[in-house]
Amino acid sequence: MTQPLAALRSEETLALSTPAVAVEDLWFAYREGKWILQGVNLQIPAGGFWAIMGPSGAGKTTLMRILAGLLPFPRGQVDLLGHPLQGKPDPALRRMIGYIPQQLGLVRGLTALENVLLGSLARHPGWRTALGFFPRAEIERAIALLELLDLADRADEKVFRLSGGERQRVAIARTLMQDPQLILADEFVSDLDLPRAAQVLAFVHRLARERGLTVILNLHELQLVQEFADHVVILKAGQVVFESPALDLTWPLFREIMEGKR
Ligand SMILES: Nc1ncnc2c1ncn2[C@@H]1O[C@H](COP(=O)(O)OP(=O)(O)OP(=O)(O)O)[C@@H](O)[C@H]1O
Ligand SMILES: [Mg+2]
Repeated sequence: MTQPLAALRSEETLALSTPAVAVEDLWFAYREGKWILQGVNLQIPAGGFWAIMGPSGAGKTTLMRILAGLLPFPRGQVDLLGHPLQGKPDPALRRMIGYIPQQLGLVRGLTALENVLLGSLARHPGWRTALGFFPRAEIERAIALLELLDLADRADEKVFRLSGGERQRVAIARTLMQDPQLILADEFVSDLDLPRAAQVLAFVHRLARERGLTVILNLHELQLVQEFADHVVILKAGQVVFESPALDLTWPLFREIMEGKR
């Protein structure tokens, strides 16, 4: 995992003054009358590595899915990479957003390499690409990404034969294949033990720094948040109840917030 990444860097960069993600007074309900997000405000700077925490049912996945352009919202304003998110994001904006759901969204019956290649479809929305008809340059890029993630020898293995950690890395490679500026990862390391999760996060962290990517992670483990995130947000019942630099969120403080004592 030590190869230089410069060759893979995105051509477009965001002006440093523009937040990568600006959420203003965001409200969302799956069913009328039951608000899941209630007036969420967030300003995430470009290049930020942010963690979102909070109890089960707080609305973390819902927020992620809205930011990924997968859920229309009735109230509020969301700007991604300087573009307002309204309805379905256009393909150019969609390409800039790499979303890794908790279940990873890999195609189990395809190989690691084929799954990574699927990431390039976001850059070629008009394609009706059948597998096997990817341009050579895309295949080479996918192989380079697999090498970068220490998966070169697993490239031709079907995903269902890979370990949890290997699958996580295939999902990252597929997202990078898209060449996004913003990565949204929803508890994508929660199936891994702590050392393995730390290893995967260390990789994403280094990559984000080198490429100037903005990363938002839903994470449950405070230890991982303190180790990798620069900023943390706690969501409870659809509201931001705490926001601070990650290192300021100590164990006692975290416990108090989660137990509703603050
Ligand atoms: N498709 C849906 N239809 C109706 N309600 C939903 C739907 N998806 C989620 N909810 C509800 O919205 C609330 C927030 O769910 P969400 O998945 O965003 O929480 P979360 O913070 O990600 O929780 P977890 O930590 O368990 O993943 C929950 O009460 C959940 O039951
Ligand atoms: Mg969730």
